[in-house]
Amino acid sequence: MAKIISISNQKGGVGKTTTTGAIAAGYKSQGYRVLCVDLDPQSNLSFSSGAETEDCPTIYEILKGEAKTTFSIQKLPSYDVISSNILLSGIELEFTQTGREFLLKEQLSVVKDKYDYIFIDTPPALSILTVNAFTASDYIIIPMLADIFSLQGIAQLSETIERVKKYCNPNLKVEGIVLTKFNPRTILSREIKGTAELIAQQLDTSIFKSTIRSSVSIMEAQTNQQDIFNYSPKNPATMDYMDLVKELIERGI
Ligand SMILES: Nc1ncnc2c1ncn2[C@@H]1O[C@H](COP(=O)(O)OP(=O)(O)O)[C@@H](O)[C@H]1O
Ligand SMILES: [Mg+2]
Repeated sequence: MAKIISISNQKGGVGKTTTTGAIAAGYKSQGYRVLCVDLDPQSNLSFSSGAETEDCPTIYEILKGEAKTTFSIQKLPSYDVISSNILLSGIELEFTQTGREFLLKEQLSVVKDKYDYIFIDTPPALSILTVNAFTASDYIIIPMLADIFSLQGIAQLSETIERVKKYCNPNLKVEGIVLTKFNPRTILSREIKGTAELIAQQLDTSIFKSTIRSSVSIMEAQTNQQDIFNYSPKNPATMDYMDLVKELIERGI
């Protein structure tokens, strides 16, 4: 039975998509069966993994009940993907029925026994899509930049998580915060780590020991539609993501 993990933070540009792709590829390299669900209408994860987004069933059709989950999975070199496209942005207005928070959970339950891990990349918003991701998930991983603006919006994120726990998914757990584009050697970064620890307390979680360094190879790999383990295995950021995967596995995830 797959563990389902959402990678989430309502801020854009913090490394959600990068982290989703990297840990998915990392788990796959360890021999696990991995599916990624792109739940962001901007479809960055779909693009960076080389998935089709047009003229194929996407997560939008799945949520609408117009396509079967099993037939919408694209088997790609790095991992399996359910892609998204811009149509997904209409979902907030289109889905008004009771139970709409549970659509993704229901659709993923059909393929749960075919995978060890299902990772969900979420949009930079606390929308019905994010609520669907949290409702379907066992764990949330929060990528965060080590900057002073990271504090803003944490209260809303915390409130959304609490509401999902109360009404939709009592077993949901925030597994941890991963600091991305982090340079441990600057004094500023170290100070911000203190701030991040306060945020972790607010969310009743902790900061992962593994932090992810900045590297241009990350964007190059995405542009070339390859995962970083293939594109640049010896890169510092690649090794950091491998450490994160090992840390997660050690935690029993
Ligand atoms: N460790 C890193 N080093 C350098 N660039 C990174 C790193 N992580 C992410 N990026 C880049 O930062 C941008 C935002 O990352 P992304 O994963 O798309 O964030 P989000 O999904 O939260 O919006 C992308 O251009 C990505 O290539
Ligand atoms: Mg993204």
